[in-house]
Amino acid sequence: MNNLRTRHASQRYLLPGIVFAILALVGLCLPLQANAQSTVRPPENATTNIAPAGPPLQGGVQGTQSDAEIWHDIRLGETGAVSIPNKSAGQMIQSQGEDWRLYRNGPIHDYLGYAMLATIVLLAVFFAIRGRIKVEHGMSGVKIKRFSTLERMSHWLMALSFITLGISGLNFTFGRSLVMPVIGKDLFGPTSGFLKATHNYTAFAFMLGLILAFVFWIAHNIPDRTDLNWLAKGGGLIGKSSHPPAKKFNAGQKIIFWGVMLFGLSLSVSGWALLFPFEHHLFSSTFALLGNIGIDVPALLGLPQPPYSAIQEQQFNSAWHGIISVAMICLILAHIYIGTIGMQGAYDAMGSGEVDLNWAREHHSLWVDEVMAKKTDGIVAAPAE
Ligand code: HEM
Repeated sequence: MNNLRTRHASQRYLLPGIVFAILALVGLCLPLQANAQSTVRPPENATTNIAPAGPPLQGGVQGTQSDAEIWHDIRLGETGAVSIPNKSAGQMIQSQGEDWRLYRNGPIHDYLGYAMLATIVLLAVFFAIRGRIKVEHGMSGVKIKRFSTLERMSHWLMALSFITLGISGLNFTFGRSLVMPVIGKDLFGPTSGFLKATHNYTAFAFMLGLILAFVFWIAHNIPDRTDLNWLAKGGGLIGKSSHPPAKKFNAGQKIIFWGVMLFGLSLSVSGWALLFPFEHHLFSSTFALLGNIGIDVPALLGLPQPPYSAIQEQQFNSAWHGIISVAMICLILAHIYIGTIGMQGAYDAMGSGEVDLNWAREHHSLWVDEVMAKKTDGIVAAPAE
């Protein structure tokens, strides 16, 4: 009986034993096979890098440093030597990366979202109070040429590429929290991949549009005395006062122009550094430059002092690119408002390139005088009888 039970027991363990042995064998073979297939191998003459490079370790002898100390140094960003071209791979842990992630998903995500919402609410309140700014004397039916085809093409190249960049760029910051729950992970992944590629390529169209707009309009955007008067009267936008005299662009438009140029330049430079990473040291050099004139930006913002590693530069670039893009989006929301529903007759300037003479007289009286003084063929159509 006892014998029978023992045989039974040994039979019971036989099958699992065989399975275990097979699994153990497969398990042993897998790493060997993986090693054999690995294409990433150190070169023949590579030296094995056991401890992080840097100043002599405690006690002057590597052997006295404990594992805990080595890992402590690595955790604090100690960089070792690597034999591959990407030297930054020698840094196993970059702690600032975690700070950047928290900052990007925290304050950047929240405050930038609030800023855009606040702009939309302010514009809606302004519209509710002021209503559409009408042409006080009514449309004359006489048209005056405001922008050439080339000027309008440049404007629309810059505008449409910026809107594309804005939508695809906002998806980087807000897509995960706002879009993904609506369309689901399966659709969000490929959509975001497509938007990322779109963002990268559209950037070049925007830069071209920005340069063209700068060349065409810089001469009309130099601040002068008429701007002070225009600003003092609130541009005639507030209250029922009539519009102060202005040249081709009034002070409000000059603010838009310079805002677009400066933010656009900053976006282009930081975007370029993100497109071609680890090659630029914009923040180290800018902070050092400002430090020379007594402005210690890192101290003011509670950041580490420069010089920064290549990866830190990328993190600063990414945060800066996001902040500036939202600042420009807020500015452009106001611009689009005034160019469409906010002001009667304004859109025509960028639509057909011709505006109503009464609109032009009310908003840009000095410019109309200039055009009239030069030639009368600025007037392109007589009123219909
Ligand atoms: C749907 C979008 C847009 C509309 C309807 C629009 C409309 C207009 C109009 C009507 C003007 C001429 C104003 C005048 O006659 O004096 C103008 C000018 C201008 N636009 Fe736009 N725009 C749009 C988007 C953009 C974007 C995205 C940018 C920049 C990225 C931009 C930058 C400018 C600049 C710099 C000027 C000249 C300065 C000024 O008039 O404020 N626009 N736009």
